[in-house]
Amino acid sequence: MTTPRPRIAVVGTGGTIAGSSAAADGHHYEAGVFSVDDLTAAVPGLEAVADIVTTTVSSVDSVEMDLGRRVALARALAEILTGSDPAADDEGRRRRSALASLGRVDGVVVTHGTDTMEESAYLLHLVLDTDIPVVLTGAMRPADDPGADGPANLLDAVRVAADPAARGLGVLVVFGGLVHGARDVVKRAASTLDAFSSLHGPLGEIVAGRVHVHAASRRVRGTFPVADLPGTLPRVEMLATHPEQSSLIGRAVVESRPAGLVHVGSGGGNVCAAGITALDEARAAGLAVVRASRTGAGVVGRGDAIDDDAHDWVAAGDLPPGKARVLLALALTRTTDTAELQRVFDTH
Ligand code: SIN
Repeated sequence: MTTPRPRIAVVGTGGTIAGSSAAADGHHYEAGVFSVDDLTAAVPGLEAVADIVTTTVSSVDSVEMDLGRRVALARALAEILTGSDPAADDEGRRRRSALASLGRVDGVVVTHGTDTMEESAYLLHLVLDTDIPVVLTGAMRPADDPGADGPANLLDAVRVAADPAARGLGVLVVFGGLVHGARDVVKRAASTLDAFSSLHGPLGEIVAGRVHVHAASRRVRGTFPVADLPGTLPRVEMLATHPEQSSLIGRAVVESRPAGLVHVGSGGGNVCAAGITALDEARAAGLAVVRASRTGAGVVGRGDAIDDDAHDWVAAGDLPPGKARVLLALALTRTTDTAELQRVFDTH
């Protein structure tokens, strides 16, 4: 008896992987120019790994990937994964027939800009409750660059999405031959090809075309089902402070009436005196306040360095500020209670 070939959906969202230096107008390159079919056609040997079906959800530079676009992507993936999306809006319903025609899939690959891939991957990880592999990938060089890294990354991503070893690991990022978990992956380099690393090391690697998985994250996932999300997520701002900062900056943030604020602190999430005033004013105005660190590694522990209980703030643990913003926006759909928010940060 022959094993059926894996069937993988490749979903385009834009980014440098679909970018063109020829199309650039005074810039280094333009992101999101090539179609997802162009991208898959440029990968030698892809057809030997899996049957590929494609669709495009957006075509943007990922610096424009706001929470609304991320939730729209999550709804499209949920529809591909489960065949239905109860919360779809009119645009979602129009797309339904196209997505439904993709049929059953064994895995999904999302091509995405690298700049904010880690935040999109983390949001998908939190809102998709599936064991089917969902893998994000991208490229540091545009598709028409002679040294483009997109084709190899896309081939590796399809290999991982098609591999049973990737089931149940949550959303993954495959880049530069490594398999990263969505919760811990970070873009650590602005320009080199090995742009991604993981806070606690990668989950696996792809060697000579074979997928090796060494580890799995112990954090929970899929706890904010996309079908239960409101149309718009609560807005969460980010604020970095310094000792000479004008008090007007923090007040302008509060006056814009977000639901939450993530502070980008130094070291263990430290906050200068001007920042403490700004955050206390924000908390007094009803914003949920989360203390994170700009360092990129290590833990901002509750009560370490700053008395979070006294200020009624939340400590981000080892989540980087951008991911803390994603988690806070989702958590605020359930609660505004500080102790409960801290529990969410401690477990996700
Ligand atoms: C983007 O994030 O969309 C542009 C940069 C990249 O993909 O590397």
